[in-house]
Amino acid sequence: MNILVAGGAGYIGSHLVKELQNVADKLVVLDDLSTGHRDSIGNIELVIGSSGNKALVTNILRTNNIDAVFYFAAHSLVGESMSNPGKYLRNNISFAIEFLESMVECGVRYMVFSSSAAVYGEPAFYPITEEHPTVPTNVYGATKLIFEEMLDWYDRIYGLKYVSLRYFNAAGADQSGQIGEDHKPETHLIPLVVKACMGLSEKIIIYGNDYPTKDGTCVRDYIHVSDLARAHILALKYIIASDQSKIYNLGNGTGYSVNDVIASTIKITGKKPKIEVAPRRPGDPAVLVASSKKIANELGWNPEYIKLEDIIYSAWNWHKNNPSGFQQ
Ligand code: UFG
Repeated sequence: MNILVAGGAGYIGSHLVKELQNVADKLVVLDDLSTGHRDSIGNIELVIGSSGNKALVTNILRTNNIDAVFYFAAHSLVGESMSNPGKYLRNNISFAIEFLESMVECGVRYMVFSSSAAVYGEPAFYPITEEHPTVPTNVYGATKLIFEEMLDWYDRIYGLKYVSLRYFNAAGADQSGQIGEDHKPETHLIPLVVKACMGLSEKIIIYGNDYPTKDGTCVRDYIHVSDLARAHILALKYIIASDQSKIYNLGNGTGYSVNDVIASTIKITGKKPKIEVAPRRPGDPAVLVASSKKIANELGWNPEYIKLEDIIYSAWNWHKNNPSGFQQ
């Protein structure tokens, strides 16, 4: 099986690329390196370019005889999507249309798509199942939902089969400690807390402690990035075996508060940094917890990292080995 990973040099994509090395006959990564890192994919063939460059994508698909695509190429900062919506609509939607057109032109029929819990918006019930209404509250979530709708039309019209995976809070790092999360700027809770405990930043900021939760801080469902990677491979095998399209949630099914994350990180690192409480971050729902029963029942996927402590430990291991992240 010849595989192209679009956006494969990013955080989640690079963890998938590592797993795919044992599965793919031929593996190619396409990434514009706007947020990804060359060093995150070792010696795997990298084409530096845009997923919206139709001539380039068509050439990669043809010359490598690509059978299936994993699609991660997207901007993913919720806040930025609200201050610069055009950037998100262009990159996450316009470029994706060009990409899908190339797939059709080259007869590539399988895609596993990187979607998000952000498609659901403000939760109406818990845990969130795939049947939950999809009412995104930010442009980022809207672009993920529009992409899913485009996939549905490409399936109906051209028979392009896909699995869309709606991640909850991706976290942690590969157990080798050689690849992990390296966003610049970093906005995610776990790397920020780990770095503060390592003395790499001044303090932890808690965005809101007046939510209707057990300790007043937001509750999230943290899912290990290697568990996400395994789900992608199961998803591709499923598409090929069944020739059907599906949408699945990916989470642990357990919610942890911001305070839980901080307490667990202090326990692991043995260091207690300064902690400050700030006002709520606009658009943050109080609780986001997934039901992943559908993918468990249908594809047999179950997370291996079920304890928050193990997820944080793996993130710490990566940051300890690479305090400045990837070099390039
Ligand atoms: N938080 C803090 N302090 C920080 C950073 C975050 O208190 O310094 C809090 C946030 O307010 C939130 C929780 O920690 O309550 C988790 O925040 P993250 O930024 O780590 O993750 P989000 O839940 O905001 O975002 C995740 C994904 C997005 C996705 C979104 C769905 O990273 O891609 O879930 O709502 F869109």
